[in-house]
Amino acid sequence: MPLYRKIFHDSNTEILVWKITETLDQLLEEVSLNENSKARLLGMKSVSHQCGFLSVRKLLQEKGYTDFDLYYDEYGKPHLNDGRHISISHSHDFSAIILSDKNCGIDLEMQRQKIVTIAHKFAEEEFEFIQGLDENSYIRQLTVIWGSKEVVFKIRNEVGISFKDHIHLEPFSIESKKAVAILKFNSLQLTYNIYFEEFENFTLVYAFQQ
Ligand SMILES: CC(C)(COP(=O)(O)OP(=O)(O)OC[C@H]1O[C@@H](n2cnc3c(N)ncnc32)[C@H](O)[C@@H]1OP(=O)(O)O)[C@@H](O)C(=O)NCCC(=O)NCCS
Repeated sequence: MPLYRKIFHDSNTEILVWKITETLDQLLEEVSLNENSKARLLGMKSVSHQCGFLSVRKLLQEKGYTDFDLYYDEYGKPHLNDGRHISISHSHDFSAIILSDKNCGIDLEMQRQKIVTIAHKFAEEEFEFIQGLDENSYIRQLTVIWGSKEVVFKIRNEVGISFKDHIHLEPFSIESKKAVAILKFNSLQLTYNIYFEEFENFTLVYAFQQ
């Protein structure tokens, strides 16, 4: 399938989502990989992961980039050679990138019941404003909380950050499609503007540091 969704956040920031309906062979035919990416692809354990990785290259093509314009730092954070900021996420049948002149992060999560049982690992203060919600709303809120913390981590890219201890979400509603996250780490306090969208039981979260 071609591009699934395009979001123009502002004049310098675009979000692109791919819905993966191609086979691995189709995707392999349609993208060229640098040596590092070829080696990574070979090391991936599942076809689903390989397709996610390749579909991100399809998204890059939409904006005139190829895999040769992309490199990764020692922590695994992707960068573009031209200095624009990029963040990447893939989950099951979807992948997404954000491109911006600002440091940014993106995350895609499937809304799953399982998040309820692992929530205590990544949330604490947030339980105060999500308690009492019906099950569906509870799962959707937790998915935004989880995705927001992934995104803050991807923007900051610093070893030692704990989702539960160092990143907190201020109360938000699903309808607002916005939230605020605070990172308190190593005597620094940073604020992040979070934006989210939901489609086909997935939550797409992206953010910028204030
Ligand atoms: C790195 C991490 C953020 C990836 O997130 P994920 O939800 O597993 O997977 P996603 O598909 O959303 O993101 C993967 C992409 O993130 C990017 N990425 C990897 N490491 C990164 C980093 N340090 N900083 C920014 N982006 C990073 C890569 O582009 C990667 O995809 P690619 O290698 O195919 O290009 C995550 O695995 C992680 O390590 N989180 C921090 C650890 C933690 O505290 N976990 C939970 C505790 S409860």
